Amino acid sequence: MAGGEGTSIPLLTPYKMGKFQLSHRVVLAPLERQRSFNNVPQPHAILYYSQRTTKGGFLISEATCVSDTALRHPHTPGIWTKEQVEAWKPIVDAVHAKGGVFFCQIWHVGRASTSDFQPNGQAPISSTDKPPKRMVSPSTGDITEFTPPRRLKTGEIPQIVNDFRIAARNAIEAGFDGVEIHGAHGFLLDQFMKDQINDRTDEYGGSLQNRCRFPLEVVEAVANEVGADKVGIRLSPFADYFSSGDSNPEALGLYMAESLNRYRILYCHMVEPRMLTVEEKCATPYSLLPMRRVFNGTFIAAGGYDREDGNRAIDTNYSDLVAYGRLFLANPDLPKRFELNAPLNKHNRATIYLPDPIIGYTDYPFLDFPTPDSET
Ligand SMILES: Cc1cc2nc3c(=O)[nH]c(=O)nc-3n(C[C@H](O)[C@H](O)[C@H](O)COP(=O)(O)O)c2cc1C
Repeated sequence: MAGGEGTSIPLLTPYKMGKFQLSHRVVLAPLERQRSFNNVPQPHAILYYSQRTTKGGFLISEATCVSDTALRHPHTPGIWTKEQVEAWKPIVDAVHAKGGVFFCQIWHVGRASTSDFQPNGQAPISSTDKPPKRMVSPSTGDITEFTPPRRLKTGEIPQIVNDFRIAARNAIEAGFDGVEIHGAHGFLLDQFMKDQINDRTDEYGGSLQNRCRFPLEVVEAVANEVGADKVGIRLSPFADYFSSGDSNPEALGLYMAESLNRYRILYCHMVEPRMLTVEEKCATPYSLLPMRRVFNGTFIAAGGYDREDGNRAIDTNYSDLVAYGRLFLANPDLPKRFELNAPLNKHNRATIYLPDPIIGYTDYPFLDFPTPDSET
């Protein structure tokens, strides 16, 4: 196991996250892989997740849709049907068999969709009726024009809260140790929080408190359903992904961090201000430290981390855990590589979302560890 050979770098020190005894701090970030045909998790995910599992390691699943209106791609997994729940079970079992702690990231994309992916070709739902700006895919150059969304009526919001609640219950039934509510990256919850999107005039729009009402209702419902000790949330107050900017992201981040304390959830997972989108890094005077100081539970930082600044984040108590996306995607044995300070594989953009059970998925090479026999 990583960290088991004497001298330990900060990233490879143990950490107790609530009732979970983690053996190191290198977390698998949620990574959408688009290989769950018909929105049903596939057996090839067993190998993918177990490759990235270490005993006492913490893994967050790819974003998993809470309902049939939550989708934006053809092959993202869901967790609203019995078939999906059953299909997750062997994947979760495989992670548990290797001693990993596995949370399911539950997701609704809101307006970041098109009518092609919505039931009966209907408009996607959102806090607003304005679509995000057209998007050019960094990997394929494809242009997405978003369908203008339908603004949710005030009276419809409890139904969406309920979809998250049921998805959380289903995730626990599938065997997951807990859930991470996806409140980041310009998706539905973020569409309520951000003042550049939310143009509502009811109690879910206007003031910071009103804009955060819906995400906090989701947190409360999910925590009541499965237990706050099994709930985390991911937030990206500084990101502008899918035209999701806010005029005062630090105030938003602080307000959410403070409010989350009321529900005593397990962790808050925040994306670094330097990440403008999911992949682009930029210079910024901001940091996550004010939010880290305010939040009482476990704090996870993510976005653009390497071995060196991950170690620094732990060493300086900037964060309790660090989530790695692209590096963990390309290096299934990332904690081991960090331990040995070994060279890292680079991710291949072209194969990231290929709907293939192997290519760009489970074929990234492991380090070749010498066995005791081969050393003699
Ligand atoms: C292929 C890919 C898929 C991603 N899917 C998700 C996702 O499902 N949920 C999420 O919250 N973030 C997602 N992200 C963002 C990552 O979790 C992470 O925040 C981002 O890659 C920046 O971290 P990194 O620099 O360590 O890669 C994705 C990023 C990539 C590259």
